[in-house]
Amino acid sequence: MLNKPAQSARDLHPIIRDRWSPRAFDASKPVPQDALISVLEAARWTASSNNVQPWRFIVATSADAEGHAKALAGFNERNQRWAKNAPVLIIALYRTVNDQGAPNGASAYDLGAAVAQAVLQGTALGLVVHQAGGIEKDKIRAAYNIPADTEVAVAFALGYQADESVLPDDLREREHAPRARKDMSEIVFAGSYGTPAKL
Ligand SMILES: Cc1cc2nc3c(=O)[nH]c(=O)nc-3n(C[C@H](O)[C@H](O)[C@H](O)COP(=O)(O)O)c2cc1C
Repeated sequence: MLNKPAQSARDLHPIIRDRWSPRAFDASKPVPQDALISVLEAARWTASSNNVQPWRFIVATSADAEGHAKALAGFNERNQRWAKNAPVLIIALYRTVNDQGAPNGASAYDLGAAVAQAVLQGTALGLVVHQAGGIEKDKIRAAYNIPADTEVAVAFALGYQADESVLPDDLREREHAPRARKDMSEIVFAGSYGTPAKL
């Protein structure tokens, strides 16, 4: 199976080093319920501002064909081409208010952290995860009766990696694209914004 470990300047924890976002999912290999629960537990145990836990998740598995098709319809057409093979599709939401109804400016940040923990837990279990911002937010809101105080953020596909031959030509090519990152000097500053930290 294709691996694309991070080419980092220093050693990383293997889970962080080896995580990447394949589009080739094995449709014939369901995610065991224990693994799915572990991934969701990892999200549940994320730190959040005032412990509000603003994240919400809608889960669909291929064991329920109708539920899976409904979640898949929330991905845009481009993303559906690969997400359809993933046995688990999860839509990630965040409440914009706390439990008292006051605005919670940290909720998008907190959801991002929760998804990151879910992704790493999945990686630790030998699963692959591909996040998608290319989703039909209004369609999802209507289809799942999502309340007005809750934002649709992202969806992600979870499953076992397949050989890239399961993908259409253009996506198969992209599967081999090198993983790139900005230089540290572009993102880590000291003294004033834009001044690279001397590391
Ligand atoms: C919030 C978010 C939205 C993304 N949206 C899409 C998407 O709509 N379609 C897609 O194919 N990949 C999507 N990705 C995957 C990114 O393109 C990918 O994470 C990035 O290129 C870095 O590659 P890596 O995850 O393999 O390190 C998204 C990732 C994140 C975190």
